[in-house]
Amino acid sequence: MSKTFDIGLESLTGRGVASQALALEWVSAPLSRGYRQVESPEAASLILYNTCSIREKAAQKVFSRLGEYRAKQSEGRIIGVLGCVAQQEGEEIFERAPWVSLVCGSASYRKLPELLSQLEAGNRRVTGLDNDTDETFETEMTRRDNPWRAYLTIIEGCDKACAYCVVPFTRGPERSRTSDSILKEVKQLADLGYSEVQLLGQTVNSYADPSSRKMRFSELLLEVADVTGIRRVRFTTSHPSDFTQDIVGAIESQSKICDHVHLPAQSGSTRVLQAMQRTYTREGYLEKIAMIRAAKRPISITTDIIVGFPGETHEDFDETLSLLEDVQYDGMFSFKYSPRPNTPSLSMNDAISEEEKGRRLAILQEKQRQIQTVRNAALAGQTFEVLVSGKSRRENQWSGHTSSHRVLNFTSMQKELLGHYVQVRVASAGPNSLVGEQVT
Ligand code: 5AD
Ligand code: SF4
Repeated sequence: MSKTFDIGLESLTGRGVASQALALEWVSAPLSRGYRQVESPEAASLILYNTCSIREKAAQKVFSRLGEYRAKQSEGRIIGVLGCVAQQEGEEIFERAPWVSLVCGSASYRKLPELLSQLEAGNRRVTGLDNDTDETFETEMTRRDNPWRAYLTIIEGCDKACAYCVVPFTRGPERSRTSDSILKEVKQLADLGYSEVQLLGQTVNSYADPSSRKMRFSELLLEVADVTGIRRVRFTTSHPSDFTQDIVGAIESQSKICDHVHLPAQSGSTRVLQAMQRTYTREGYLEKIAMIRAAKRPISITTDIIVGFPGETHEDFDETLSLLEDVQYDGMFSFKYSPRPNTPSLSMNDAISEEEKGRRLAILQEKQRQIQTVRNAALAGQTFEVLVSGKSRRENQWSGHTSSHRVLNFTSMQKELLGHYVQVRVASAGPNSLVGEQVT
């Protein structure tokens, strides 16, 4: 086998970010063995397919996608399946897709070099399916493909027990990295030229430094922001129950910490939240929102919402709509409830039809679209700093993100802007992006 490989990327959460970070975690092992990443599966001799199982749709996609890989295997390529579906389905994958040669769950990425040498030796049924979560998830030499923004997992797994969620089963209990190792890596990233770092975790704000320094999450944010060369610090996803005033204080006191909090509510009905085992009520959630809104500078707030959880009545759904109205989110990811293996909600009566779930989802999304249209329009005339990450085919057109994570498309006569921070004045806006012009 020649030493090249290609990465099949599927969305982990439907929110993009995490999938990229997860994929990049495991890229390091093959690279350190002399493998090389290529542009397309056609150019690869080994295809690693990274998978997600958080919602049924994502998991189902895996097997139809693997069907497409069958022909590739007959052309002599070796196919590997990684991630949460690999962890969940295990050797069953060989039964359903016999053309697969490697199944490696998320807890075994450190074993990839060893598993690859088994493949190189001609073994065609190679597995890494340990559930040993004591091992840390630190991987050396992580490769990242966005040259300005680095993703860094600081806490793995989840100790919450949301009734619908498969993560505690696929990713195991919470394990945090030491603050020293995180800070060391951020320094390396800054030396490599990254100016923005995004700290990741399923419940990032439950971070608990295992070292004697016992650094709080808010202290970690401040120390990361202090690293020379770092201009922006982001973090996601925050759990409402663990969201505390000191995090808002850190954002207030350090402008490098981005003015954006992703705080999934999941539902606006206390009754449904209780059934979901979300550990807070609507009122408790709104108190956290009030705390964020009281900050000295505006902080953008985004959320995740699930519609059609078992037993969600029309009244419950209306409460979710009114939550959107009350909070005035700047962005929302929304999903139809889907039953997942092992989860407590699996045994609840999932009586709401797909059609009704679809209807609720459409209503919810339209409501949020209107809110974003109004909120974004109110930003016209304001100037924001943008990290430029895209260049349009159209001349003098660029794009990037504001600190609040809004997409800003803008005009500039300058020639080389990628990776630079520029000031842009907003002229107009749609529900999902802003349009402006660079100010000099
Ligand atoms: N059904 C629908 N949505 C889900 N999510 C997690 N599990 C499920 C499920 N079983 C959503 C939640 C979470 C996001 C990452 O995915 O909103 O915040
Ligand atoms: Fe899943 Fe809940 Fe943990 Fe988020 S907090 S990963 S939804 S169990």
